[in-house]
Amino acid sequence: LDEKIWLTLSFGMIMIFMFITGYQAFAFDLEPPSNKEIIDPQKVDQTAPFDKPGITKIGENEYEVVMTLQVFSFNPANIEVPAGSTVHFTLTSKDVVHGFEVAETNLNTMVVPGHIQKITQKFDKPGTYLVLCNEYCGAGHQLMSTTITVK
Ligand code: CUA
Repeated sequence: LDEKIWLTLSFGMIMIFMFITGYQAFAFDLEPPSNKEIIDPQKVDQTAPFDKPGITKIGENEYEVVMTLQVFSFNPANIEVPAGSTVHFTLTSKDVVHGFEVAETNLNTMVVPGHIQKITQKFDKPGTYLVLCNEYCGAGHQLMSTTITVK
């Protein structure tokens, strides 16, 4: 009989936890930040702004980078910005889940097909920053890298 009581109690607790988690998700609208910006991964090339990947100056020391990721490359690759620039990245994947990690910075995000990931970083220190894919994305994953040059 004791065992039945404990079984019931622990099952009840799990149900309560699940209910609270589910309730919070809806009540507080908790979702991945880019969850509401869904695009068709098959049509990335035809979908703005990804139909024109590249780097654009949008203000004093401020740049926007529209970038697509696919096995096993970043487009555009090897971008350059002046020191002191704030760079707004808008990222998506054309195939599988990739990662976007910039060494020596706090930039580190998943890039999920169908989703738009926005992330901003200020680059003060001149140098060449290594950009890595840190999500396993296939046989060439370890080759998937590029650079950001700050000068
Ligand atoms: Cu892309 Cu690993």
